[in-house]
Amino acid sequence: MRASLVIKNIDSLITIRGENRARYGSETRDMGEIKNGIIAVDGERIIYIGEGDLPAEIEIDKDTEIIDGRGTTVTPGLIDSHTHLVHAGSRENELDMKLKGVSYLEIMAAGGGIHSTVKSTREASRDELYDQSLKSLNRMLSYGITTVEAKSGYGIDDFSTEIKQLEVARDLNRDHPVDIISTFMGAHAIPEKYKENPEEFVHIIINDMIPEVAKRNLAKFCDVFCEEGVFTIDQSRRILLAGRKYGMEAKIHADEIKTLGGAELAAELGCISADHLIAASDRGIEKMAEKKIIANLLPGTSFNLQTGHFANARKMIQLGVPIALSTDYNPGSCPTENIQLIMSFASLIMKMTPEEVIHGVTINAAAALGIEKEVGSLEVGKIADIAVFDSENLAYMIYHFGINNTKTVIKKGKIIYN
Ligand code: NIG
Ligand code: FE
Repeated sequence: MRASLVIKNIDSLITIRGENRARYGSETRDMGEIKNGIIAVDGERIIYIGEGDLPAEIEIDKDTEIIDGRGTTVTPGLIDSHTHLVHAGSRENELDMKLKGVSYLEIMAAGGGIHSTVKSTREASRDELYDQSLKSLNRMLSYGITTVEAKSGYGIDDFSTEIKQLEVARDLNRDHPVDIISTFMGAHAIPEKYKENPEEFVHIIINDMIPEVAKRNLAKFCDVFCEEGVFTIDQSRRILLAGRKYGMEAKIHADEIKTLGGAELAAELGCISADHLIAASDRGIEKMAEKKIIANLLPGTSFNLQTGHFANARKMIQLGVPIALSTDYNPGSCPTENIQLIMSFASLIMKMTPEEVIHGVTINAAAALGIEKEVGSLEVGKIADIAVFDSENLAYMIYHFGINNTKTVIKKGKIIYN
């Protein structure tokens, strides 16, 4: 067998080998590390993983790309499983209010926050939206990301803007090597027009928007911002069940700010992931553990909301909840594409070990997107999505925080960032 690409002499080759499913509890202590590792790829797929040299049956020729992995940590390509990638504008104008202690929900209730980005995204042309999102996508790639989830939700009742966002995500997925998986999130805020009668908007989402998004095949998942003053538990349940009826699996922004029972709802519905969970109840976490619902934690958002509250990752791990970690990249609650910073926050603030952290941005993130059979770990037969970091071990890159440790990124066997 001939190798098209080989990375050799890898200080720390982190394979995350094991079953193709979200890992939890003590399983996440073993990251399948190989010291002095070597990995060979043929075309899009991995053909060999081991220590030292290649076995005789793997041939190398003059066209084989050889990467010297000395001084590096090599991991599965990182996966950002919760972002609001496609949006226009920015919200640095809210910084002053935030510093004066005005809360996220107060800014939103006063017509700012998400509503402000809705306005910019409605006004942006398709090309402007594409260009701004492309810039962010390139930045994500530079941090080692090979797959990203992208939500709509900045059109809300302006359905053509929701469609515009989803189509830009689709086009970027077609044009860019990083894979983009789309989520429909029309239920992101209650539009001004429906403030007095949110049920009317819920009705439109369920009866008009979801069937149309499904018909156009624009989203794999359906998500809802289940929060005080946004969508209630009952409304979220109905929206997510409608999404499921049309083939979109359920995700939920759950218990981000107020303890509403979002974690419990995620367990009840069997959501593929429940995201945020900063204010999740103990009962909710226990129910998620029973059903093995993936907790997608977003510590960058906690940091940026300045409330001092972070999701209780240690309790979740202790109870056996599988944990994914994401940026939540968006212009309001987490304006950063830097997944490595999120990994550091997860460790330094939420007390997750480097082993637990790397599961959260690889196999568990893949499972949160339903792609764990193809990516998320480095094993023979899986897709060769690989990140090479300028760091002799994983702990170093988590400890040396806020910088970009990426050296090389490989997508489907091809070098796409160097
Ligand atoms: O995940 N909470 C709702 N949605 C995003 C924020 C979006 C925004 O503020 O623009 C979040 O935090
Ligand atoms: Fe979000």
